[in-house]
Amino acid sequence: MQIRQLGEQIGAEIVDVDVKRLTDSEFAAIYETWLAHNVIAVRDQVLQIPDFLDYSRRFGSIHPHPSKSTRHPEHPELTLLGVNKFRADGSLDRAIYRRGAEGFHTDGAYDRVPFKATQLYAVAIPSHGGDTLFASMYAACDALPAALRSKIEGRNGAYVYGGRKRSNALLNAEDRDVPPVFHPLIRIHPETGRPALYFDPGKILYVEGCSPAESEAIIAELEGCMLQPGGQYRHRWRKGDIVIWDNRCSYHKAAGDYPPEEDRIHWRVSIKDHDDPPAAEPA
Ligand code: SIN
Repeated sequence: MQIRQLGEQIGAEIVDVDVKRLTDSEFAAIYETWLAHNVIAVRDQVLQIPDFLDYSRRFGSIHPHPSKSTRHPEHPELTLLGVNKFRADGSLDRAIYRRGAEGFHTDGAYDRVPFKATQLYAVAIPSHGGDTLFASMYAACDALPAALRSKIEGRNGAYVYGGRKRSNALLNAEDRDVPPVFHPLIRIHPETGRPALYFDPGKILYVEGCSPAESEAIIAELEGCMLQPGGQYRHRWRKGDIVIWDNRCSYHKAAGDYPPEEDRIHWRVSIKDHDDPPAAEPA
């Protein structure tokens, strides 16, 4: 197994390994690399769905995503990305085509216990475009201006799935109206002990304890701090790649720019720690 650092502060690539046949010590090396680099790409994997689920369960427990309509019909814990993007009348469903492309985000901030990780397996890749972009929350936190940092230290953000724009086209109607959850804007990563800027502009409703105007001003300022030089990595997909990112210390965004008539299909799982409670299923 060979490991190569990709970005200055984020991203690593692992080659010459088959995740179906990993020893415990090989998996420990992969996990350590992931914690150190936040996002890792394991190249050249040939997997069936059970292989992908088994490998994913080594990172934690897998939880069905709240977007029920995009779950795999026989494996609800698997989300299908890029499938069914054309409606029966032939028009492009942009919520599917541009899923994840509206802005940098972290998965699951709307949940009381957000997903620790998201893992994708590349099933079909377009001839060009369709990259995924990543940014380090550690770098964002380190770069916060002192005045902004002191404004948000000890404060929570309030989050719902679709944020202030209520962008929830992929949710079933019965799952749309849920109360917000709260997370500290500066969160200590539970495994590395490093502070990270935990903030998602597409899911945040407001900053707790601030006036609406103050809250909007803080949100705008934080948005400007998310991307830092040296704290970014852009993944160009190859078929057979497995990419896992750490939602506790990285943002990501789909480029959303590939030819719509071509396939870009991934299997996706959402992972929590083994002892985390499942998401409360809306009534
Ligand atoms: C996502 O935002 O979860 C998906 C990213 C991608 O499809 O590149």
